[in-house]
Amino acid sequence: MAEIGSDIEKAKSLLIAGELVAIPTETVYGLAGNALDLSAVTKIFEVKSRPQFDPLIVHVPNLIAAQQYTTNLPDQARLLAHKYWPGPLTLLLKKKSNISDLVTSGLDTVGMRCPDHPLTQALLGSLTFPLAAPSANPFGYVSPTRPQHVEEQLGNRISYILDGGPSKIGIESTIVGFEDGLPVIFRFGGITLEQVEGVVGTVAVRTNSTSNPKSPGQLVGHYAPGKKLVLGNISELMRLHAGKSCGILSYQHDFQSRFQFILSPSGQLNEAAQNLFSALRNLDKMPIEIIIAEPVPDIGLGKAINDRLKRAAGR
Ligand code: TXA
Ligand code: MG
Repeated sequence: MAEIGSDIEKAKSLLIAGELVAIPTETVYGLAGNALDLSAVTKIFEVKSRPQFDPLIVHVPNLIAAQQYTTNLPDQARLLAHKYWPGPLTLLLKKKSNISDLVTSGLDTVGMRCPDHPLTQALLGSLTFPLAAPSANPFGYVSPTRPQHVEEQLGNRISYILDGGPSKIGIESTIVGFEDGLPVIFRFGGITLEQVEGVVGTVAVRTNSTSNPKSPGQLVGHYAPGKKLVLGNISELMRLHAGKSCGILSYQHDFQSRFQFILSPSGQLNEAAQNLFSALRNLDKMPIEIIIAEPVPDIGLGKAINDRLKRAAGR
């Protein structure tokens, strides 16, 4: 079992000693280690059972720190960082040689993120190194949004979980890269397409390239619960699966089912995002055969929610 607590000094000394610590962020909990210490980075891949071709995001307290590890910052990246850092936005930037190929899986870019959580900001500000941190879940499973989620799956592999409460956003960061200087969204997340476009104008979206080895997180079947999930019109799917015990994951509507989660009865997408991963984890534990889910409105945060639901259904 891992200890769950809010002792930044303890987290700091473990990280300095090359150990891993689960850290809270506004998106999801991360499994953090010293990004400059290859043995700590290796432990991250091992604890998550993550293939080494899937690069890690590096967390820093601010843009100045990010520039210690990156070069050729595009103007649009600077604008986005000024507007949305700290916040749920990861920028893919040209890496300097102080970031190992192990962290980036051999790519010449590194994902840089400045998380908006007071405990993790304080921790990052007190360290002399950045933190590599993927979501703190076994590879391919739903991301954790509470300390207990981390404890349940990785508690026997790490000694400390820094408790920052439930994640405010509840869905991972938006990933933006630059190709020929032009911004491209590689993963929908906590910063919406509209928010990105509000700063840099029209952006390309490349979130569906399932065969793209550059972004394994874009694989169909990622972010998936253990149970089979089907996505569509809930009433129709309930008829289709009438003989089975079904769990229902709806956006607003109450289907009067014994095993159901309503993401946001009042129809707020931010509330739906906050609840999504907890709901999937809870449904996974229920005595049901399949999870029947419906897409949410495909605007704002809804795009990120629908993206995760589609991938969960693709398992
Ligand atoms: O909100 C988040 O981003 C959370 C918190 C902990 O910060 N982190 C997170 O990390 O979601 P992870 O490792 O679970 O997902 C990161 C995704 C992966 O799909 C990875 O393939 C992609 O980012 N990625 C990382 N570096 C990349 C790079 N240089 N080029 C392309 N994709 C990259
Ligand atoms: Mg992940």
